[in-house]
Amino acid sequence: MSELTDQYWQNLEQKQAELKEKIERDPWRLSFHQMPETGWLNDPNGAVQFKGVYHLYHQYVPDNPEGGLVHWGHKTSKDMVQFQEEELFLSPDQSYNKDGVYSGSAFVKDDEIHFFYTGNVKHPGEHDYTFSGREQNTVHIVSKDGFTVDYEEVVIPHEDYPEGFTDHIRDPKVFEKDGKYYMVLGSRALNHRGKILLYRSTDLYSWNYAGVFLEGEKEMGYMWECPDFFETDDKDVLIFSPQGLKATAHEFESTHNSGYYLGSVDWGSEKFMPESTFKELDRGFDFYAPQTFEDESGRRILWGWMGLGDISPEYSNPTVARGWQHAMTLPRELTVENGQLKQRPLKEYESLRKNEEKTAVKVSGSYELDNQNPRTFELIVTLEQLGESLSVHMKEDTVLSYDGHIFSLAHGPSGFGRSERTVEVEDLSRIHVIADTSSIEIFLNDGDYVLSTRVYPKHEKDTIRFEGDAELSIEKWDLEN
Ligand code: FRU
Repeated sequence: MSELTDQYWQNLEQKQAELKEKIERDPWRLSFHQMPETGWLNDPNGAVQFKGVYHLYHQYVPDNPEGGLVHWGHKTSKDMVQFQEEELFLSPDQSYNKDGVYSGSAFVKDDEIHFFYTGNVKHPGEHDYTFSGREQNTVHIVSKDGFTVDYEEVVIPHEDYPEGFTDHIRDPKVFEKDGKYYMVLGSRALNHRGKILLYRSTDLYSWNYAGVFLEGEKEMGYMWECPDFFETDDKDVLIFSPQGLKATAHEFESTHNSGYYLGSVDWGSEKFMPESTFKELDRGFDFYAPQTFEDESGRRILWGWMGLGDISPEYSNPTVARGWQHAMTLPRELTVENGQLKQRPLKEYESLRKNEEKTAVKVSGSYELDNQNPRTFELIVTLEQLGESLSVHMKEDTVLSYDGHIFSLAHGPSGFGRSERTVEVEDLSRIHVIADTSSIEIFLNDGDYVLSTRVYPKHEKDTIRFEGDAELSIEKWDLEN
């Protein structure tokens, strides 16, 4: 046991009260995205629908907006729009997780949720915590309601991992295939390659190593975090978040990136065989460590951490001074259609739509939408005809533009001048923007590409302006929670 002391909890409560005072005055708090009640939030964890209720757990440091000792925060929802803040689900209070209840997943079997997570432990003394000094134990929890823990055991202690790896093996995600259970784990191998480990089980309680599910070449990065695997009628999908991945012409330009392979598994040799290139899941500035789950209606839903992507030193998140940092993306539905991954915002958010406006305009020069609520809105721009180029200006100084070949998202000072992300798209016909107070998510065409970004406009008053030369159909709603 490594109980957190009463003093720890008292301090945490006091710190949270201080942070709340700042948070209450912050106009950058999001209106319909999930964010930490106080402090810091990172990866989505244990996403699941159980007996009708959606549960979103997440990496959470309630007392420090700059990160620290991670717990699992918990939010529930009946409709995927309104969420309720719940008590902390897990805290680092055991010898096998004392330096953080790291990321993990949920798996429903019969009337129980089985959670798997990484218990992070750092040994005292002189260590680099990559090659020595760190334990990352795989822990199994059973819960009958998603709120209380009925059973908790280390299922793969750190000393049982195979040879050839650094101390970084983590983020279990569990799935079922033909009556067997499988677990994927992310890792950093000793040769500085990212690898995904596969474990197998017949009962969810004891696990056997089944080999490396996928390993990367050098340019695929030194560490792969947060693996996720699911099957569709079309292709199998393997998602992970590599660190140290080489940027390509328009992809993987953030410090940290997440992507996917479409492929298939050879269940004889238990290997994943990519049939596509590795593609970036989200082409914006703020996206990392996503997790998917299948809901009770069979939809594959993804949440991403709308943070970390770009950690360049000149970009520090201004909400830190206001007592909190980071958020989740809107939940998205994932499908594979004709060999392509599509991501569309989960349609439930449409219940937030108010004050619909529809216009057809011929832009030649500049055109501004009036009667704006430019803080929380949705905009669907259909390009009926494009001349030279079109740009859409919003959130003070964010510019979305398209010239017939390249779509670009560029920030000014309110996005810390994080220069530009670009997507090569020859046949862009639809730009779909969902903007919250301090975030923008852009879906291109019908879910072909997504760009997520955080932005911090200083003024309450704002406009949405179109410039260039194009014929457009515009649909716009205020999104009100
Ligand atoms: C990804 C990650 C995971 C880890 C967790 C710790 O952002 O580094 O690999 O489990 O965050 O908070």
